[in-house]
Amino acid sequence: MNETRRAVLDALAEGPVAGPDLADRFDVSRNAVWKHVEALRDAGFEIHSSDAGYELIAVPEFGGPTVQYGLEAPFDVEYHDAIASTNDRARELAATSESDVVVLADEQTGGRGRLDREWAGPSGGVWLSLLVRPDVPPSHAPLLTLAAAVAVTRAAREAGVPAEIKWPNDVVVPADGGDGDGDSSARGGRKLAGILTEMEGEADRVSWAVVGVGVNANLPGERLPAEATSVQEESGPVERRVFVQRLLETFDKLRADPDAVLPAWREYAATLGQRVRVETPAGTVEGNAVDVAVPGALVVETDEGRVRVHAGDCEHLRPA
Ligand code: BTN
Repeated sequence: MNETRRAVLDALAEGPVAGPDLADRFDVSRNAVWKHVEALRDAGFEIHSSDAGYELIAVPEFGGPTVQYGLEAPFDVEYHDAIASTNDRARELAATSESDVVVLADEQTGGRGRLDREWAGPSGGVWLSLLVRPDVPPSHAPLLTLAAAVAVTRAAREAGVPAEIKWPNDVVVPADGGDGDGDSSARGGRKLAGILTEMEGEADRVSWAVVGVGVNANLPGERLPAEATSVQEESGPVERRVFVQRLLETFDKLRADPDAVLPAWREYAATLGQRVRVETPAGTVEGNAVDVAVPGALVVETDEGRVRVHAGDCEHLRPA
């Protein structure tokens, strides 16, 4: 949304304001004000007009302008009712000079998950990809994934879901509802969200990173894959606009303060303290997950000593 339109919207939210006053305030023509108001109406904003002027009555449930409205993070939002994959679209934008763009969709028809898996993306979810160009070496890119996992977890908790993070990047809900009896989290919980980070870099610097986040938000149980859950199933339908805003705001704060990422991640970790088996490209690692280390490695205490695992599929085992 362009700056003037955003400012017009903010002004309308404060009460009735006359078109000529808006034109004076923003140094544009009355016709330009009218065009902004009509464009906002087309985007679903309910704007009442009376003798006193224009007034914002209601914002749309979901979409680009509605997420950007009131968003306290410097992202532009490109919204699609349906798209094959928000990650693919963000990668296209990466080939331009764009940065700090969020590609957001209500429905994904060709979503991709980790390890070349498919990712179901029916209407009602939160499917988004952040295109960022952080000034960090490629080896630090995993911190972006951890930051996204923290951001999703925090937004989910705010929506009343007792979400936790399963290393490296799954947000899960323990089947015990987070009451900590340990039994269900030993199996890893039901998946609420997944993250797929893709990047291109030079030797010393990330050129671009696309952090793809898929959250089963307002999806009923019958539309979910086995072993998955949704915000709707756990705590009822969520206002996706607010959910995405919180997610983006937390991500934005964490990327500006990388030292805060691991402590926040540890706070939400389902994996730490668990006996785990991780299938890594170099073989299987089994032991107790004791910590997470920069830039996102899982530290596992094995019979042969401490091992740092950088990538792999992690299974929570029942205690021996
Ligand atoms: C996983 O396998 O757990 C990661 C899933 C990531 C899915 C998201 S949905 C938005 C973005 N676009 C994609 O095609 N994938 C990611």
